[in-house]
Amino acid sequence: MDTFIAANRLNWDDRARLHSSDTTGSYRIEEVLAGSDSLHAIEAGEIGDVAGKTLIHLQCHIGLDTISLAGRGAIATSLDFSPEAIAAARDFARRAGRDVSFVQADVYDAPAALGETYDVAFVSWGTVTWLPDIFRWAGVVGALLKPGGFLYFADTHPCAAALEQIDGRLVPHYQWRTPKDGPLSFDETSTYTGDARPLTHGRSYNWIHALSDIVSGLAEAGLTLEWLHEHERLPSRLFPMMVPAKERGMFRLPDRVPRFPLSFSLRAVKRT
Ligand SMILES: C[S@@+](CC[C@H](N)C(=O)[O-])C[C@H]1O[C@@H](n2cnc3c(N)ncnc32)[C@H](O)[C@@H]1O
Repeated sequence: MDTFIAANRLNWDDRARLHSSDTTGSYRIEEVLAGSDSLHAIEAGEIGDVAGKTLIHLQCHIGLDTISLAGRGAIATSLDFSPEAIAAARDFARRAGRDVSFVQADVYDAPAALGETYDVAFVSWGTVTWLPDIFRWAGVVGALLKPGGFLYFADTHPCAAALEQIDGRLVPHYQWRTPKDGPLSFDETSTYTGDARPLTHGRSYNWIHALSDIVSGLAEAGLTLEWLHEHERLPSRLFPMMVPAKERGMFRLPDRVPRFPLSFSLRAVKRT
């Protein structure tokens, strides 16, 4: 395994262990297991009817969104490269009484690991930033969809991802395209939920992908864009200055900062 991806897997195994015994309540685990929907307002409002559709959830983490999609009637399969995340997701699905198939594999190996095609691919929040090659990711999505099937994708806007808050101001800090072999590296002592327990493997590697590369990659992979939306909110506090938005679990810029998109979502259909 590539050294960057191997380090990320150790990092995500740590995070999955902490998140699945969430001390901060940020994942609302008990509520979701009791039948509450974990989807945020953006994807809940945009995903549409998935009942009776076969669905692949890529980078499912501890499976709470997959469980919610199964609760909406999807015939769901979920994939993540972290064995700790998949173990927690399986346990949660069993406790929620949801019939979900879980597969542990790298996204790039998904077509071979799954051996099937689906009506829907669902990918959301904090996903492609962990992948070095966005065109290869788009090819994976194309390979996993049946003709007429669609991708629903929501994530941080690359323009926002290129900024950092420094001395109370947002400033361009990262290149808008991260080279495959030169990822951004981060060393963290704890995870983003606010859990005080330490990460054992704090080093991780990230890539920022241009919006045009994401859309062009999908077009090259045989998908047609139906719509692309940009949003002024995000389900994480990307910058310390961000304040809670009116939707539960979402954050926005404070009023003093000019508006710009913090996230985007799209729906793209596999051509027949
Ligand atoms: C921020 S989480 C995604 C959260 C997700 N939106 C959810 O439903 O909770 C990122 C996930 O990507 C997974 N991941 C990172 N790199 C991966 C890779 N190369 N292949 C498969 N999964 C990967 C991590 O294990 C982690 O569970």
